[in-house]
Amino acid sequence: MKTWLITGCSSGFGQRLALAAAHRGDRVIATARNVKTIEDMAEPFGGRMITLPLDVTDAAAASAAVAKAVETFGGFDVLVNNAGYGLFGAIEEGTPEEYRPMFEVNVFGLIETTKASLPVLRRSGGTIVNMSSGAGIAGGGGGGYYNAAKFAVEGISEALAGELEPFGIRVLIVEPGPFRTDFLGRSITMAANGMPEYAASSRKHYRETNNGNQAGDPDKAIAVILQAVDADDAPLHLPLGPIAHAIAERKLAAFRSDIDAWRDITIATDFDQP
Ligand SMILES: NC(=O)c1ccc[n+]([C@@H]2O[C@H](COP(=O)([O-])OP(=O)(O)OC[C@H]3O[C@@H](n4cnc5c(N)ncnc54)[C@H](OP(=O)(O)O)[C@@H]3O)[C@@H](O)[C@H]2O)c1
Repeated sequence: MKTWLITGCSSGFGQRLALAAAHRGDRVIATARNVKTIEDMAEPFGGRMITLPLDVTDAAAASAAVAKAVETFGGFDVLVNNAGYGLFGAIEEGTPEEYRPMFEVNVFGLIETTKASLPVLRRSGGTIVNMSSGAGIAGGGGGGYYNAAKFAVEGISEALAGELEPFGIRVLIVEPGPFRTDFLGRSITMAANGMPEYAASSRKHYRETNNGNQAGDPDKAIAVILQAVDADDAPLHLPLGPIAHAIAERKLAAFRSDIDAWRDITIATDFDQP
C-alpha cells in the first residue's frame, strides 16, 4: 500500500489521481488551496484519505500538511506536485503581475512542497511525480512564460533525480499534451495587454477552440501515472499522449540537427593545448 500526498486536488489530474489511488486501496493526503472544494472526497474511504488545505505558494502550509501527514499516516512515499496553471501571451505582452505569480505556483510552489516533503521521503524512499507538460519539452510562440515555468520544472526534476537516487527516491516527470481537465477552462490566463504586432503567434482563441475538445482522456493519463509509480523500470520522462510524443520527437530532431550543424565550430573553444 502506497501513501500519496497530492497538490491541486480540486479538479483535473489531481482529483482523479487522488480518487484512483484511494479506490485501489492506497492512502491519500489530498490537498487543495481551498479545502472546502475537496471536503467530501474522503468520506467513502474510511480514514484512508484525508483532505488538507495547501496553497503551494505558502511554504508554511506545505510544512503543516507534511506534519499532518506524518501524524496521521506516519509519512508518505509518493509526492505529486500537480498544482499549476498556464499563462498565454507573447513575452513582450506579459507583465510581472501576470508572470511572477505563475512562477510562484508552478515553480517555487513545487520547490517548497518538495523541500518540506524530503525529510519524510528520505526516510521512506519513494517517488516524486512532477507535472510538467508538453510545454516543458519545447517552447512555442505565444506560450513562452508557461514554457519557461515548465522548463524549470524539468530542470529541477532532472537534478532531483540524481540527488535523490542514493535515498531510494525516484522522480517521474509527467509531460501531458492536451487533456480534457479544467485546465483550458479555468487554469489558463491570457496576458491582458494583447499587442496586434503578435497576432501571428497569438493564442487568443486557443481556449475557445480547444476547451472540451482535447483528445486526451485524463483517466487514461492517470492509469499510466499509476503504472509508472508502481513500475521498477519507469523512465524519468513520461510524455503523455500522441501530441506530447510528437513534440518530443520534433525537439529531439531539431536539437540533434542544431548540435551537429556547427559542431566543428562550437567545440573548438577550449584553451589551446601547449
Ligand atoms: N490538462 C492539460 O492539458 C495539461 C497539459 C499539460 C500539463 N498540465 C498540468 O497538469 C497540472 C494539473 O492541471 P489540470 O489539467 O488538472 O487542470 P485543472 O483541472 O485546472 O487543475 C489545476 C489544479 O491546480 C490547482 N492550483 C492552482 N494554483 C494552486 C495553488 N496556488 N495551490 C494549490 N493548488 C493550486 C487548482 O486549484 P484551484 O481549484 O484552487 O484553482 C486545480 O486543482 C498542472 O500543473 C498543469 O500545468 C495539464
